Amino acid sequence: MTAFPFLCGWSFLFKYPMNGKGQKKGIWEVRTEGPNQTLALGRILGGILPEGSVIALIGDLGSGKTVLAKGIAQGLGIEDEREVTSPTFVLVNEYQGRILMHHVDLYRLHDSSEVEDLGWEELVSGAGVTLIEWAEKVSNLLPAERVEIHLHWVSDQGRRLIFTGKGRTAQNLVGQLQQKWMEEE
Ligand SMILES: Nc1ncnc2c1ncn2[C@@H]1O[C@H](COP(=O)(O)OP(=O)(O)O)[C@@H](O)[C@H]1O
Ligand SMILES: [Mg+2]
Repeated sequence: MTAFPFLCGWSFLFKYPMNGKGQKKGIWEVRTEGPNQTLALGRILGGILPEGSVIALIGDLGSGKTVLAKGIAQGLGIEDEREVTSPTFVLVNEYQGRILMHHVDLYRLHDSSEVEDLGWEELVSGAGVTLIEWAEKVSNLLPAERVEIHLHWVSDQGRRLIFTGKGRTAQNLVGQLQQKWMEEE
């Protein structure tokens, strides 16, 4: 009986194993100084993304979602990543790299049901990699397995990015990304 509250109190350690740096497994927070660092971070992520990945990008206007998307495009081997711009009017653009990349921007979405017109199921469960800017607008329609990235404006050149791996594969991806970033630094 006496062990019961003790076990409950520490059970979070099993649910959220720490990665040795005081962070929960699959969660990584990093700060970039300037767009080139965010591009470099995206490039590493694009280089390790497996087919079928869904990346949810969440952050205010100007927080760096599209800059990160350009980096991911570079990492996926998309030839002219300069063409990667927010697909604000068409909502989704496609680029062929090592894997097909779908780039979705939901800024102008009024209602989550509107994404049905985009062939949503195919986008989030089909082939390729899908990046979704303003993903919080369709939070109820996101697949359980995804990498969620929250971006915050810190200063003119500073941005804080928080990567969360939702699901086993995504958790491992975030761990790999963190490791590769630290190796490059
Ligand atoms: N550390 C940084 N990371 C990303 N962008 C940065 C950073 N510092 C400054 N910026 C600038 O912030 C802007 C981000 O724009 P963008 O990626 O289009 O934002 P969003 O897609 O989130 O609206 C760009 O003008 C970029 O040059
Ligand atoms: Mg954008």
